[in-house]
Amino acid sequence: MSNPYTRIARLKEAQSFSEYTESLGIDLPFDETLQVGTYAPLAEPYTMKNGRRIGNRFCILPMEGWDGTRDGLPTEFTKRRWLNFGRSGAKLIWGGEAVAVRHDGRANPNQLMIQDHTLSGLEDLRTSLVDIHQEQFGSTNDLFVGLQLTHSGRFARPMLDEMFGVDPELPVLTDAEIEELIAEYVRAAKQAHELGFDFVDLKHCHGYLGHEFLSAYSRSGNYGGSFENRTRFLCEIVAGIRSVAPGLEIGVRVSSFDFPPFRPDKDNVGQPQEYLDEQGQYPYAFGGNPDSPLEIKRDEMFSFLDLLRSLDIELVNLSCGSPYYNPHIIRPAFFPPSDGYQPPEDPLVSVARQINNAAAIKAKFPDMAIVGSGYSYLQEWLPHVGQYVIRNQMIDFIGLGRMVLSYPEMPADVLAGNPLARKKICRTLSDCTTAPRKGLISGCYPLDEHYKALPEADKLKAIKAEL
Ligand SMILES: Cc1cc2nc3c(=O)[nH]c(=O)nc-3n(C[C@H](O)[C@H](O)[C@H](O)COP(=O)(O)O)c2cc1C
Ligand code: SF4
Repeated sequence: MSNPYTRIARLKEAQSFSEYTESLGIDLPFDETLQVGTYAPLAEPYTMKNGRRIGNRFCILPMEGWDGTRDGLPTEFTKRRWLNFGRSGAKLIWGGEAVAVRHDGRANPNQLMIQDHTLSGLEDLRTSLVDIHQEQFGSTNDLFVGLQLTHSGRFARPMLDEMFGVDPELPVLTDAEIEELIAEYVRAAKQAHELGFDFVDLKHCHGYLGHEFLSAYSRSGNYGGSFENRTRFLCEIVAGIRSVAPGLEIGVRVSSFDFPPFRPDKDNVGQPQEYLDEQGQYPYAFGGNPDSPLEIKRDEMFSFLDLLRSLDIELVNLSCGSPYYNPHIIRPAFFPPSDGYQPPEDPLVSVARQINNAAAIKAKFPDMAIVGSGYSYLQEWLPHVGQYVIRNQMIDFIGLGRMVLSYPEMPADVLAGNPLARKKICRTLSDCTTAPRKGLISGCYPLDEHYKALPEADKLKAIKAEL
């Protein structure tokens, strides 16, 4: 069944956009006119507590391509994506993409890794990005580039094990194994620092290991149960990094709220699955309300940010949920990926949820540098909503995910006051997710000429025709 919502491309006038958001009952304010020039809100530099300047308010979110070699090195596809990040004009590059700290932590056999044998490959990615940025924009003093460190862990929540067929006999990491893994993170961060990265992101989102710890309410031992135990992993990595790589900034990308897993119903529309415990609660979601699983509860998130502040961490990137079990909340899309479902709400509702949640967090932590996510679905309206939320200090940086795959130059065009290249605007067709779910490299097959011309594009078409 196709979905009943209005496509953004049809909402051409400011009035029709605001009438539509009003009809959905959501608060999604925007500026009708975009400002250009040094004093435009999106062009305003951000100065960090250590005096470091980040040159504008666009951030490129981490976007992996499932296109590394089997031993974790970047390929020409990876490099092209990083060059596009540099060409975008955004001054904050949040991590490039997920890079596993060791082999058993890769989410897929083509994920990048940070190990001795991959260091020159990672260095090449960073320098290529910086060089092309220098060439096009004349300065890199105000460019801030990080590397996202990850370990994919294994789903440790009982209902996810069941849903994804994880063998319950498979041991979760023992406390001793976690200590070894912490040492790997510290080693990886030191190496990233030596390669010239300005910061590392200790990924705590999307159901991967860091996020699993935040949700490890039912784990026993030193790394589960209490808030203190669930954040011990983070604290120990930070302490290690501070001692071996002083001067390296640390950021954290976090799923700041979560909902239960969604599954398609008979009409292929996503429905929340009821995995309630004996008390009738859903106590597994960090940032969720156990009594009402589709509600956000921010008390723990606020404690988490207090903790980050006490650890001298200023850079925070807010995402939510997981692309595997509730993709519509994290990547609002008109067309679902192959393993997804038709959106159970207008994707604009999902966009507004992320924006307003981030604003509630920013209001309590005005001194932290906070990046928001989930803007790509706004399409033509992205810069308009972006300008409004920056101007009103609802967030510090507008993060771009899918949009950077289809239209890397969007930030540069917006900052220069150029009209948007409409043909390049991401229409949330989800091929960049469907392709890797089917074993192909990721990329914007529908809109990026480079991917359109690949043999993989035909394979993807054939696969989609069979779905
Ligand atoms: C193809 C693809 C790859 C992604 N790779 C990563 C990643 O490596 N690390 C990460 O934290 N998020 C990753 N994400 C999530 C995005 O960073 C972003 O949060 C999400 O796409 C929503 O933002 P958007 O609406 O601008 O696309 C990925 C998303 C997509 C579609
Ligand atoms: S394939 Fe292209 S248009 Fe589709 S969601 Fe990805 S970036 Fe957007």
